[in-house]
Amino acid sequence: MSQHNVGGDPVATVPRSAGRKSPRIVVDRVGKSFRRGAVAALQECSLEIQPSEVLCVIGPSGCGKTTLLRIIDGLIRPDTGRVLADGEEITRPRRDLAMVFQHFGLFPWKTVSGNVAYGLRVQGRPDHEVRATVRHYLEMVGLQGFEGHYPYQLSGGMQQRVGLARAFAVDPSVLLMDEPFGSLDAQTREVMQGELLRLWRIQRKTLVFVTHSIDEAIILGDRVALMTHRPGRIKELIDVGIPRPRDPEAVRGSPRYATLRRYIWNELKPEVARSGEAP
Ligand SMILES: Nc1ncnc2c1ncn2[C@@H]1O[C@H](COP(=O)(O)OP(=O)(O)O)[C@@H](O)[C@H]1O
Ligand SMILES: [Mg+2]
Repeated sequence: MSQHNVGGDPVATVPRSAGRKSPRIVVDRVGKSFRRGAVAALQECSLEIQPSEVLCVIGPSGCGKTTLLRIIDGLIRPDTGRVLADGEEITRPRRDLAMVFQHFGLFPWKTVSGNVAYGLRVQGRPDHEVRATVRHYLEMVGLQGFEGHYPYQLSGGMQQRVGLARAFAVDPSVLLMDEPFGSLDAQTREVMQGELLRLWRIQRKTLVFVTHSIDEAIILGDRVALMTHRPGRIKELIDVGIPRPRDPEAVRGSPRYATLRRYIWNELKPEVARSGEAP
């Protein structure tokens, strides 16, 4: 997929997923339990994820959201059911699916550049391509000049940008994100949501985004998948129906936002009550 560096523009050497279609992912009656069956995490969980959509997944704590992402990623196998990508069963991690964990898991001993380069090196990309790709994505998230810094020298928001750059740099066609902004303060979180939407506009990929926040699900999602209390399954799929590009402030002030927020909370409330925890 790499292009030739025609005009000396480093960006031209960066591989892009543009043109490569994201797969249609089908989660087909997936069940998974832990501790020899004592904890049923997922049961009859079914879901279709459309190519290039942003699907936000919301549900009470412990309902199996992380388990579902790990199964889609191929990190763990379901006990029953299966997950298909364009009709092909997912049985192990694939190059075109990338999981982003809750805290992004930057390597503290690697520099910003080293962190962004990591996935590319694992993929065995040649040096010149790694350098150009790292430069491109650090520019995209506004971190040029910080290449040699270590994560501890950066603010929480900057660390998240490194995480986003790293995730986008390996150019997967599907990104699986597990509450990536959960630990950020409200303001930084909003900045990062804007950043993610901007990256997504440049590189349309499928995003499956787990969140605890109804607000975040509406601001980011094309659809919101609501999960039941454990064992989790998809209770309902809700079309957000707010046109893009979205101005989060305008969205928050719209009647559609208010309606969705109330509706999702009403549907979520009984599930949260059953789990005995805050959402
Ligand atoms: N590796 C594991 N071993 C044992 N229990 C697990 C494991 N992973 C998840 N669980 C249990 O499965 C349930 C669902 O977990 P998880 O998918 O992490 O939920 P969520 O992400 O929605 O909070 C929880 O009860 C959790 O304790
Ligand atoms: Mg989780």
